[in-house]
Amino acid sequence: MSDLSPNVLMFYFRPMVARQQSAPTLVFRRLADEDDELSEVQPDAVPPEVREWLASTFTRQLATAKRKSDEKPKFRSVAHAIRAGIFVDRIYRRVTSTALMQFPQDVVRVLKTLDEWSFDVFALNEAAGGAAIKYLGYELLNRYGMIHKFKVPPTVLENFLGRIEEGYCKFHNPYHNNLHAADVAQTVHYMLCQTGLMNWLSDLEIFATLVAAVVHDFEHTGTTNNFHVMSGSDTALLYNDRAVLENHHISAAFRLLRDEECNILQNLSRDEFREFRTLVIDMVLATDMSFHFQQLKNMRAMLTLAEPVVDKSKAASLVLHCCDISHPAKRWDLHHRWTMSLLDEFFLQGDKERELGLPFSPLCDRNNTLVAESQIGFIEFIVEPSMGVCADMLECVLGPLHGAKGPREPRGEGGKESESNKKFKIRKPWIACLGDNKKIWKEQATKDAEARAQQEASEETPHTDIPTVTEE
Ligand code: CMP
Ligand code: MG
Ligand code: ZN
Repeated sequence: MSDLSPNVLMFYFRPMVARQQSAPTLVFRRLADEDDELSEVQPDAVPPEVREWLASTFTRQLATAKRKSDEKPKFRSVAHAIRAGIFVDRIYRRVTSTALMQFPQDVVRVLKTLDEWSFDVFALNEAAGGAAIKYLGYELLNRYGMIHKFKVPPTVLENFLGRIEEGYCKFHNPYHNNLHAADVAQTVHYMLCQTGLMNWLSDLEIFATLVAAVVHDFEHTGTTNNFHVMSGSDTALLYNDRAVLENHHISAAFRLLRDEECNILQNLSRDEFREFRTLVIDMVLATDMSFHFQQLKNMRAMLTLAEPVVDKSKAASLVLHCCDISHPAKRWDLHHRWTMSLLDEFFLQGDKERELGLPFSPLCDRNNTLVAESQIGFIEFIVEPSMGVCADMLECVLGPLHGAKGPREPRGEGGKESESNKKFKIRKPWIACLGDNKKIWKEQATKDAEARAQQEASEETPHTDIPTVTEE
């Protein structure tokens, strides 16, 4: 907090004061916390547009809240795997009866790579004739033994996944569609199985985490929370401008579960249902990007304690949040495709904003958006720190399962580390991808800047072929 000017503090303080007049001290502390999270990013590291977008999307400041030009926010610049050993701990009972849904051969082929970090969900969707969620959701719930454990009737699961898939396709969004949900669910699966997280969670927690991933953007409108609030949509009215989309995703998914034909929870006990519902609500609400910095800060604070006690729901929520923003940490071809789809969606929102006479939300003006720079900002200030905290959290909670020590102890004589003293480490394939992708965007940013400079120069040069009108 030390390097924040009063102006910067006011910038974050203002929107909350209006909402919570009665408890200014508490409000101040919460916002100051968020400032703290943002404080180490060099203000000149990103262009002002990108800074504005980061501040408005990842804190609770509204995008359209204007600030004085001198009130610049600052942002924080922000072993090996033992996977083979992990799996033998827990073997799930899959349902193998003929009652199970039949998978097309092409789908079976693509699903062979389901455990890979850069799994090609686009290829799955193609093989599945556009029904990525149906096959991926089914496969995951069966692999983790959920169909068997929670006695989910296979046809009910098929109905449920089919209706979820339909809901994702309702608005024909370029990005927030069934493919994104399948991608996030597969990434959650990677985290569960390749880090060993599944051995720390109960069956019910795994079930809730997988379902939360599948429904986390259900019936997404292809517009942001900011758009809902600014345009005064019915959904914003219903949820009082708070976590508008996230509340809808959850509510609509649970409404669907009321239909017995789709009720995959029909054989859960009352207590199991309550726990499942609480977990899914917490996890999906935590995908609201305006909680991002607070979420990271809370987890970091927990991990620095001498004896960290990580709450399972908080851990699963952080994992889902990270998986939700994980495409910049995947292979370039996948990341690039996701980014272009998301920008298509943002630009369509910008078109609507223009029609409605609303100010453009950040990254939504198709004629005025710095694509490469915004991606560099997103990677450096949002994705990299998130993956870092998530990995620290996983290593902290999973270490004891493998008999590894928690915090690293001092080395023995000769600087050699004893076997038992080694800290448990997970594999982090995202680190290399993030580095590669950032490099490509940086090259792109340089080219874009050169092109802009050339364009500006040509606009400034007077056209010699146009005759000048001189006064007689
Ligand atoms: P959603 O999937 O609801 O939650 C995560 C959000 O992160 C996502 O919506 C987008 O708003 C945002 N996001 C994901 N990827 C990018 C990206 N490459 N650039 C900017 N914002 C992103
Ligand atoms: Mg979302
Ligand atoms: Zn999402």
